[in-house]
Amino acid sequence: MIPQSEQRSTSVPPAVTVACVLRDNLEGATVLVQGWVRTRRDSKAGFSFIELNDGSTFENLQLVVPATLQNYTSDVLNLHTGASISATGVVTPSPGREQARELHVSTLRVLGFVEPTEYPLHKQKMSFEHLRTVAHLRPRTNTFGAIARVRNAVAMAIHDFFQSRGFLWIATPIITASDCEGAGEMFQVTTLNLTNLPRTPDGGIDYREDFFGRPAFLTVSGQLAVENYACALTKVYTFGPTFRAENSNTTRHLAEFWMIEPEVAFADLHANMDLAEEFVKHVVSSALTRCPADMRFFDQRIQPGLVTMLEQLATTPFERVPYSDAIAILARANVKWEFPAQWGADLQAEHQRYLTEEYFKKPIIVYDWPASIKPFYMYVNDDELTVRAMDMLVPRFGEIIGGSQREHRLTMLDKRIAALGLNPANYWWYRDLRRFGTVPHSGFGLGFERLLQFITGMTNIRDVIPFPRAPKLVEF
Ligand code: 4AD
Ligand code: MG
Repeated sequence: MIPQSEQRSTSVPPAVTVACVLRDNLEGATVLVQGWVRTRRDSKAGFSFIELNDGSTFENLQLVVPATLQNYTSDVLNLHTGASISATGVVTPSPGREQARELHVSTLRVLGFVEPTEYPLHKQKMSFEHLRTVAHLRPRTNTFGAIARVRNAVAMAIHDFFQSRGFLWIATPIITASDCEGAGEMFQVTTLNLTNLPRTPDGGIDYREDFFGRPAFLTVSGQLAVENYACALTKVYTFGPTFRAENSNTTRHLAEFWMIEPEVAFADLHANMDLAEEFVKHVVSSALTRCPADMRFFDQRIQPGLVTMLEQLATTPFERVPYSDAIAILARANVKWEFPAQWGADLQAEHQRYLTEEYFKKPIIVYDWPASIKPFYMYVNDDELTVRAMDMLVPRFGEIIGGSQREHRLTMLDKRIAALGLNPANYWWYRDLRRFGTVPHSGFGLGFERLLQFITGMTNIRDVIPFPRAPKLVEF
């Protein structure tokens, strides 16, 4: 006897995606498609047209549904935006100009109706602010579907880039006891009862009672951990979530974001800048080649000129400029600054924009920064005033990468730890790398969402991650 499942498979046509119907040569084949209704339009000629989307591609598939279907009045005429259906039919060349192929439906089954007065999405243009309040449904819109596909393609391109160059992907811990950036912007992880804290004799909190026996936090960067692996395996990278409790309500900051952090042994700051530039160019051109329809949409609807700008970026050398030169350029500029550029201070957004958009007109890498505004782990130059740090700045956007050559000389590292008032005992294992077979090494961190914002042209970083976390925002 043939098992029931196989019997079914001979009578039910193969389920295919919308992308497959539109792309592959299936004309004349009977197929099953499944997805969500974007729109329904009824024609007097005895048909309804349904635009169906299943997320497999930007485009919708047009279903031509004859009024002769037995459930036409009961089901088809009650289909509204958002309803889920499955339909079988024959793939047919389309007479319409909008699409090359359509599906001539022979059976249609409704999986879930939508009450249109209650459904939060509708055909008219909706603001991104509104869509953030329905983040569970926004992936059903053109913009958020496109972002999800580009995000996926860019993530794969990032792995491809490193894998094809012999880098190993290292999973660095999310819970940590050390503050990599030393900025005190960490979320604490605890199982202590906050309404009844265990106390030490002098009134402090007794962390011996806590889960890890000492204070623990969500990591702000995988760098310190991945350095350990670079100092054994030479070329490594992490790609994972990182967390910052900085109270910045900006379009550039998330409390939870993903970071890509390569780390390379025997590499100095210049090799690091070469890698960063090659890396950014690779992922930008991958987005263009892997997601042409989505990128065309961003170009037309989000940021005009985006595709040309990205194509140019992928083929033009970036400018490299020492921090001191950047300050000199800003001081000479005939511009009324809100914050005059001063040696020793961070570059403000207005400075970043002037340098990338007016002066160099391309992405730049600013390097050799004042030690006083950078973390403890950066290699100190002979002038003892600057460190081998680098920031990559891109036009219209600002910083997307921060990195450095690491301080691999123990005495110098200890000097910096002391100068910044950090406790060397917390970094004993990091110091060990410098005690046992130390080597020059370098790395950087690229904020994944900042990169996606730049590639898609989206103005708010909260729109390029599925469920953003920011101050007072943890719904969904
Ligand atoms: O410049 P940052 O703080 O550098 C580091 O964390 C180093 N440990 C990286 C390394 O050398 N391995 O952060 C790196 C990048 C920034 O350039 C920015 O793109 C992104 O991470 N970033 C954020 N993205 C979103 N929201 C935030 N709150 C971010 N903070 C930093
Ligand atoms: Mg930075």
